[in-house]
Amino acid sequence: MKPIRKAIFPVAGLGTRFLPATKAMPKEMLTVVDRPLIQHVVDEAREAGIEHFIFVTGRGKGAIEDHFDVHFELDATLTDRNKQAELEQLSRDLPGAGQTSFTRQQLPLGLGHAVWCARDIVGDEPFALLLPDVLVQHTPGCLAQMMQVYREQGSDANMIAVEEVPPERVHMYGVVGVGAAVGKAFKITQMVEKPKREAAPSNLSITGRYILQPEIFAILENQPRGAGGEIQLTDGMVRLAQMQPFLGFKFAGQSFDCGSKIGFLAANVSYALAREELAPEFRAELKRILKDL
Ligand code: G1P
Repeated sequence: MKPIRKAIFPVAGLGTRFLPATKAMPKEMLTVVDRPLIQHVVDEAREAGIEHFIFVTGRGKGAIEDHFDVHFELDATLTDRNKQAELEQLSRDLPGAGQTSFTRQQLPLGLGHAVWCARDIVGDEPFALLLPDVLVQHTPGCLAQMMQVYREQGSDANMIAVEEVPPERVHMYGVVGVGAAVGKAFKITQMVEKPKREAAPSNLSITGRYILQPEIFAILENQPRGAGGEIQLTDGMVRLAQMQPFLGFKFAGQSFDCGSKIGFLAANVSYALAREELAPEFRAELKRILKDL
């Protein structure tokens, strides 16, 4: 089995659901408490052992590149002011020199196209894919859990994190069909992107964390447009599943769909309550607000 060293982060999306916040700022830089969404997801990948971080960006996303760079003037000012804790935090959050790559998805042609844009940087090895819209709150993180199960099953399989969603929400996600158990995972029998409730093979949705084999790139290269006129990753995975094993994994943890306002707000509440130094005061504040409603 080849090790999984690289992860792709598709960050080219316009973030229209968060306008005007995202007019001049990438949606991936919106903060959950005091860390940008993209930092939370990079943290999850680093914890899982990922060594190279590939960002598929687009116009107006320069802040992401700056965020994962050393900020010399800031470091100098913090040093002058003896702000040791802040300096250490900044340094901890930063991937090492040469561990990041940025490429652009020139046109908004969908998730499958975004992944394909990273093909040369990934090369001929399996990789992780993390969608920064989705946060999973758990220790160990979702990708670390997947890596463990991936290693245990022992083959060059593909693996998707899945979770149960209410039937009235299946049309918002990719949905999988469930086959036989393989250790802590299960064989995926079907994948459908944004199915109607009646056509969904189950209520297990694809949660934005994937381990994929590099053969996906050749498939995406010739992938016709699917749902919404976009090159859909799910359609590419359906074709890959005809050639290679595909496993689903029900992770432990609470997911937040931060692509929606409610999910994003709920993530802020939940992550703040998980912070020791914030929780007591924040809980009191929440109680006060709720009491007045
Ligand atoms: C994408 C995927 C979908 C997955 C979802 C998770 O859809 O295509 O299969 O369930 O992310 O958030 P999007 O949210 O980009 O429309």
